[in-house]
Amino acid sequence: MAQVLLEARGIRKVFPGTVALDNVSFELRQGEIHALMGENGAGKSTFLKIVTGALHPDQGEIFLNGKPVRLQSPVDARRMGVAIVHQELSLFPDISVMENILVGQAPSKMGFMRTRKMQEISRAYLERFHVNFSPTEIVKNLSVSQQQIVEIVKALVTDADVYIFDEPTSALSVEDAARLFDVLKDLKAQGKGIIYVSHKFDEIFRLSDRITVLRDGSLIGTVEAAKTDADEVIRMMVGRSLERIYPEKGTPSRQTLLKVDNLNAGSKCRNVSFDLRRGEILGVFGLVGSGRTEIMRALSGVEPRTSGDIFLDGEKVRIQTVQDAMSHGLYYLTEDRKEQGLFLKMSIRDNVAVTHLDALSKRGFLLRNRARELASTVMRDLRVKAKDDDQLVGSLSGGNQQKVMIGKWISRNPRVLILDEPTRGIDVGAKAEIHQLLRKLANDGIGVIVISSELPEIVGLSDRVLVVHNGTVAGVLDGSQLNDETIMEYASGLHSKAVAG
Ligand SMILES: Nc1ncnc2c1ncn2[C@@H]1O[C@H](COP(=O)(O)OP(=O)(O)OP(=O)(O)O)[C@@H](O)[C@H]1O
Ligand SMILES: [Mg+2]
Repeated sequence: MAQVLLEARGIRKVFPGTVALDNVSFELRQGEIHALMGENGAGKSTFLKIVTGALHPDQGEIFLNGKPVRLQSPVDARRMGVAIVHQELSLFPDISVMENILVGQAPSKMGFMRTRKMQEISRAYLERFHVNFSPTEIVKNLSVSQQQIVEIVKALVTDADVYIFDEPTSALSVEDAARLFDVLKDLKAQGKGIIYVSHKFDEIFRLSDRITVLRDGSLIGTVEAAKTDADEVIRMMVGRSLERIYPEKGTPSRQTLLKVDNLNAGSKCRNVSFDLRRGEILGVFGLVGSGRTEIMRALSGVEPRTSGDIFLDGEKVRIQTVQDAMSHGLYYLTEDRKEQGLFLKMSIRDNVAVTHLDALSKRGFLLRNRARELASTVMRDLRVKAKDDDQLVGSLSGGNQQKVMIGKWISRNPRVLILDEPTRGIDVGAKAEIHQLLRKLANDGIGVIVISSELPEIVGLSDRVLVVHNGTVAGVLDGSQLNDETIMEYASGLHSKAVAG
């Protein structure tokens, strides 16, 4: 049997009000990709922080290569051959890519390392991801997905025995994810051990040898990937089987709620026209860089546009800013939680309250009880897993942060809700809940637009699909055209000429 590289026994970790981990044991072998799965808040990231020294366990032991260790800090873990890519980006924004990549390498080495050498090392790894930026680029000038690659490379340059990835692909394109998988397979072939966290079942079954499932901080079990399937893992994760993943489709009215006429904004949004019916979920699909996000941002007043008319219920409306959009009941939720005014250092209650400042502040007093009511409604409707509404949003698990963000905007009773990748990083159970919630909103007469790069989600959830290619509408599909192949054909521009004519 292969050697055990890392072992955790009986790990317990308590945060005020939450038992994040209770008696969790785990083992990683040489040459193994071991997936760690569980719903949002199950304790995955907490476990990884403990085995990399960023958090100290209240109980339990950790062994590296068979020897008990006491990890005082992440530096300790690194020195002992454990490298991690965290769920949240942790780069220094103001220094270069290569300096970020080589931070944390043995300082003696760093001292002597010439710029030329640093560039060489960084470039060798960055090339595996076919990046088009230089190692000398300043990190803050990179996109989120480029930063994610730097984050990954930063772990890869360390000569470790154990590599840990906490949801590494949530911000990567399909192509970059495939490149990462190649790297993982190489590491595996070299006999390294890999712990891999993801909510995406296709990745898990493609990559992993074993799967360990946590639920509510407890270890449910470890299974061999080849001897199980998604249904069983889901049952382990949520404690029940989810019979249907997508809610029933709606019966949208014929009435046009939103009409967009010849929208133009930069090169990624050209001559865009489409409409949205009352009670409809309109999916928006396009390959990375197609302009799907740019189009929705131009529509919602986030980015300026050069031309185009917007009609709501047949009436032309003026939307130049986000405030204009909100005053007409049109809300756009970005794919970036932090940009969307999710205040990590504030409580859930205050996060919900800030979206209701107009209604909540009477003569400068925030109506505390009303704020509490709103927050508990959001927490109940979206099943936010938290101690209470006082908990800081920054201390919630990633998926629960996402729920708070969606919930706080829904609580404003929108007419049109535009969501950019609303279920990214969200576990299967919560994802199904969010799908149901969106369907319910649509059935209540709201127009819902959902951008997603997951085809199954687009097909499963949408009444119609707007496909974007090269900054413009390649087609609006419905009925029997709502299938993977047809949508991909349109997204790759196969039918673009016919449409443009
Ligand atoms: N610093 C903290 N203070 C208080 N509670 C915390 C803190 N960090 C995590 N928690 C709580 O511990 C539990 C486990 O969180 P953790 O981040 O490990 O979940 P996760 O499985 O990684 O979820 P996700 O899939 O959403 O990333 C959650 O209930 C979370 O709210
Ligand atoms: Mg996590």
